[in-house]
Amino acid sequence: MALERVDKLLASTGRWSRREIKDLIRQGRVWAAGRPVARPEEKWDPAEVELQVDGQGVDCAPHVYVMLHKPAGLVSATQDSRQATVLSLLPEHLQRRGLFPVGRLDKDTTGLLLLTDDGPLAHALLSPRKHVDKVYYARVDGALDRTDVEALAAGMVLEDGLHCLPAGLEVLGDGSECRVTLREGKYHQVKRMLAARGKPVVALHRLSMGPLALDGGLAPGNWRFLTERETAQLKSLGGCP
Ligand code: URA
Repeated sequence: MALERVDKLLASTGRWSRREIKDLIRQGRVWAAGRPVARPEEKWDPAEVELQVDGQGVDCAPHVYVMLHKPAGLVSATQDSRQATVLSLLPEHLQRRGLFPVGRLDKDTTGLLLLTDDGPLAHALLSPRKHVDKVYYARVDGALDRTDVEALAAGMVLEDGLHCLPAGLEVLGDGSECRVTLREGKYHQVKRMLAARGKPVVALHRLSMGPLALDGGLAPGNWRFLTERETAQLKSLGGCP
């Protein structure tokens, strides 16, 4: 989001008329960043700062897009009765917005996780028809070679009959490391494909999803909002306005 006038932001929620908003501000009942808003023309970025009316947070941004460096040990779910979820890493006002992860990473997988409350965009990015590349770095037990590259490129059929789309495999170093590029996101897919090649995964990390690459400045467990450019790139990929 960009900077926007406070009266416009509050009006966009449909809860108050412009007249009422003017009065609320004059009465010192609208706050941002720990102080009362002085004028209706004051500008804030609602993705960065929570506006409050009478001490209650007001959701103004139509949607929020968060890049998280998922650490190991958290589940990619919005709720879990026994285990901590990735949402626990976000501040409360974002947790209350109903953000959800766009696709899942296993509990022990680290790396790029996108969270949003934009259902249509999430749906579009996950649709196999959109063919959004997901790139993973993996370390395996064993040494990958050309035959593995060819098998993934041909599209593997796993033991349980699961047909995988052709996938990219770039072998790194001595063969115990690689980059895998998937165009779909089936359950435990990277682990299952490489295990089927006799090279079980010992560490897995997502590097990118479409045009969105994990920000190297984000330590595990840290997050930031997507930039306007990143959001626009994802929307254009998903065919969303
Ligand atoms: N493939 C896996 O096996 N696990 C993940 O978390 C993501 C892709």
